[in-house]
Amino acid sequence: GLALSGAMAHRPASTGNQLRSAVPLPEPYTVPLPIPPVLEPSGTSKGSDRYDITQRQVSAEILPGIRTGLWTYDGTFPGPTIESRRGRPVTVAHRNELPVPTVVHLHGGRTPAASDGYPTDLVLPQSWPAPTAHHDQHDDGAHAMPDPRAVISRITREYTFPMDQRAAMLWYHDHRMDFTAPAIWRGLAGMHIIRDDTEDALDLPRGERELPLMIADRSFASDGSLAYPSLDPALRERPGVRAPYAAGVLGDVILVNGAPWPIHEVVTSRYRLRLLNASNARHYELQAVTDDGRRLDLVQIGADQGLLAAPVTHTTVPIAPAERYDVVVDFAGLPAGSRVRLINRLGTGRTREVMAFRIARRARESTHIPARLADDLPTWRRSEATAVRDFVFRAGQMQHGRGWVIGGRAFDPARTDIRTRLGAVEVWRFVADVHHPVHLHLVGFRVLSRGGRAPLPHDAGLKDTISLRPGESAEIITRFDGYRGRYLFHCHNAEHEDMGMMANIEIT
Ligand code: C2O
Ligand code: CU
Repeated sequence: GLALSGAMAHRPASTGNQLRSAVPLPEPYTVPLPIPPVLEPSGTSKGSDRYDITQRQVSAEILPGIRTGLWTYDGTFPGPTIESRRGRPVTVAHRNELPVPTVVHLHGGRTPAASDGYPTDLVLPQSWPAPTAHHDQHDDGAHAMPDPRAVISRITREYTFPMDQRAAMLWYHDHRMDFTAPAIWRGLAGMHIIRDDTEDALDLPRGERELPLMIADRSFASDGSLAYPSLDPALRERPGVRAPYAAGVLGDVILVNGAPWPIHEVVTSRYRLRLLNASNARHYELQAVTDDGRRLDLVQIGADQGLLAAPVTHTTVPIAPAERYDVVVDFAGLPAGSRVRLINRLGTGRTREVMAFRIARRARESTHIPARLADDLPTWRRSEATAVRDFVFRAGQMQHGRGWVIGGRAFDPARTDIRTRLGAVEVWRFVADVHHPVHLHLVGFRVLSRGGRAPLPHDAGLKDTISLRPGESAEIITRFDGYRGRYLFHCHNAEHEDMGMMANIEIT
C-alpha cells in the first residue's frame, strides 16, 4: 500500500508523475546553501561512540516565508550528519516521536542484520497498536504480509554499526515496508561520513572546501506541506493500468541540503563535492557550467563505497537515486563575482537548475589530486564466482494490483529469494525494462559489464547502487562477506521499492 491519506484540496497538482507546487517558489540561486549540523556523540567510551536521534515532526522554513511540516531526524532536514572513523563502532539510538512506525537503514553500511533496518523491524510510536501475528496495521488500513522474523520495538531502538569499512559517504533513511517513499519524501534522510587514515593521508580539499550535498526534489502543497500523492487503489486493480505515481514521484523544486536551488560562496580553489541523490525517483546528469557557458571538469575521486583507484575526469556526472559521487571541481582562474551553476541536463525549466557557486575571492591552493588514490579496491575475478544469477527488473503483478517485480515476484518478507554462503563470490546479471537503480545491502560490488560491453567511466570503483537504464543489462561481481543473516536487494526508485521491487538474500 503506497497510499497515505491527505485532504484532496491540499494536494499539489500534477502532470503525469511530476507534481506542481501550489505555493510561490523562490528564484533559483537566492537562498544560501545550508550545511547539515554534524552530530555530537551523546556518550563516548574507550572504543566507541553513542549518538541519540529523536525522530520528530517540526515546522521549518524551506521556501522563504512558508512553513513546511516535516518528519525529521532530530529536527532538521537533512538530518544531522554523523561522522565516524573506520574501525570505531557507533551506536545510534533512535527514538520515534512520529505518528507512524519507522525503520532506520544505514545505506552502504556493512551492518549486522539486526541493525540493518529490515523493513518489518518496526519501531512503533507510543500510541500505535501492537501488531498481531497476522497483520501489521498500517496508517492507511493496509495490511502487510506477516513476517514471523520481525523484531518489533516500541518508541526506541539502538542500531549498532561496526564501521568496519572503507571511508565513504553513506546515508541513513527510513526503510519501513510499503512506506519508505512517503517517509523519505517527508524528510527522513541524513548523511553519514566515514573517515579513515588512507583518505587522511591525501591532500584532498577539506574543512570548508568539502561539501556534503544531498540533492532531492520535492513539491509543496498549498498549506506548505510536502504532500505525498495517494495512489488510487481502483486504478491499481485494473489489469494493465498503472497509477501515475507508480513510475515514481517527481517534485518540481530541487533542494540541496534542504534548500531550494541554493547558492554557496566559494574561493578560487578546488572543492570536494560529496554528491548524494536522495530523490525518490529523479535522475540527474550533473554539469558545472560557468557564466560564459564553459563546462568545468568534475574529477571523480570516489564512488558509493569510497575512493577510486585513480581519478576519472567527467564533464557530466549521471546520478541515480541513492548513488553517491565524490567529485572535485576547481574554481581556479574564475573572476570574483562570477557564478558556476550545477545543472541537471535531464531537467526542463527550473528542474534543470540545481545549485550555484559564487566566486567570492581569490585564494591560495593547497590541495592536490594524486594520480593514485587507493590501492585497496577488491578485484574479484569471474573465475572465483560460485554462482551466476539473473534478475529481471520489470513491471508486474503484486498482491494488490500492478507494481514492480524482480524475477516475476513482488517482495514478500516471508520468502527467501536468494540463499548464499558467507564469503561466496557471485556474479549477478540484471536486466531492466525502465530505469531502475539497483541496490544491494551489506556489500559493495564492482561493475563487470554494461549492455554487454565494458563498464562506463562512471561505473568505476566500489559501488552499492547501479543505475540500469531502460532496456539495459549489466553484470556486477561481489563477495557476500561480513555477516550472516537476512539482507535485501531492491530498486531504489522509492516508489518501485514500495510497490514490490525488493527481494531477500539469506547469507548462511
Ligand atoms: Cu537506501 Cu535498502 O536502501
Ligand atoms: Cu525501479
